[in-house]
Amino acid sequence: MRLYLCNFTTLSEPQKQMILAWRNHEAVRAHMYNEKTISEAEHFSFIESLKTREDRCYFLVQHEGVDIGVIDFNNISNERAVMGLYANPTLHQKGVGSLLMDAIVTYAFETLKVRILKAEVFESNTKAKALYEKFGFCEKGRKMVNEKEVICMELSHEHRSF
Ligand SMILES: CC(C)(COP(=O)(O)OP(=O)(O)OC[C@H]1O[C@@H](n2cnc3c(N)ncnc32)[C@H](O)[C@@H]1OP(=O)(O)O)[C@@H](O)C(=O)NCCC(=O)NCCS
Repeated sequence: MRLYLCNFTTLSEPQKQMILAWRNHEAVRAHMYNEKTISEAEHFSFIESLKTREDRCYFLVQHEGVDIGVIDFNNISNERAVMGLYANPTLHQKGVGSLLMDAIVTYAFETLKVRILKAEVFESNTKAKALYEKFGFCEKGRKMVNEKEVICMELSHEHRSF
């Protein structure tokens, strides 16, 4: 398995444009807390802001040279982080979500060295919820965001499945 993580802060201009198109794709933004279309200026300034943020990081993930999606970590502390992901919406191959989760779990526990990895998912997003469960995440609570029910999930280092 050849997974490569490109930090957003090192992306080329075409890579930034490609990711903006993914993020604004209906199949992706419908599952994000910010569902609005993001402008090029906002996107570029967000990426610039990551250069001075130690509590968050975003990566373009490549698998055998193919750009397969984005993973991110927010609210990073010594103890925990909150993960996020979206697959390249123009790829229609099975297994991309699992590859992104491999990258997330490995980076969280081996590089960030957190003890607890958190995920938040809209209750309606059955695909993502099933994916998180497949990787050992368990439901810890629920909350409302944007008038929609969100499931709060966690994976602790000792329950990591690989
Ligand atoms: C969530 C997302 C990354 C999953 O990617 P994917 O490529 O469809 O996932 P995979 O093909 O690797 O499937 C992984 C697992 O998801 C689950 N899954 C996939 N399709 C499913 C479906 N139609 N219904 C229920 N579960 C499903 C299964 O557990 C599957 O594992 P299996 O193949 O061993 O059964 C992708 O759909 C995506 O980018 N969605 C938009 C953004 C998003 O929702 N991000 C999460 C926000 S919390």
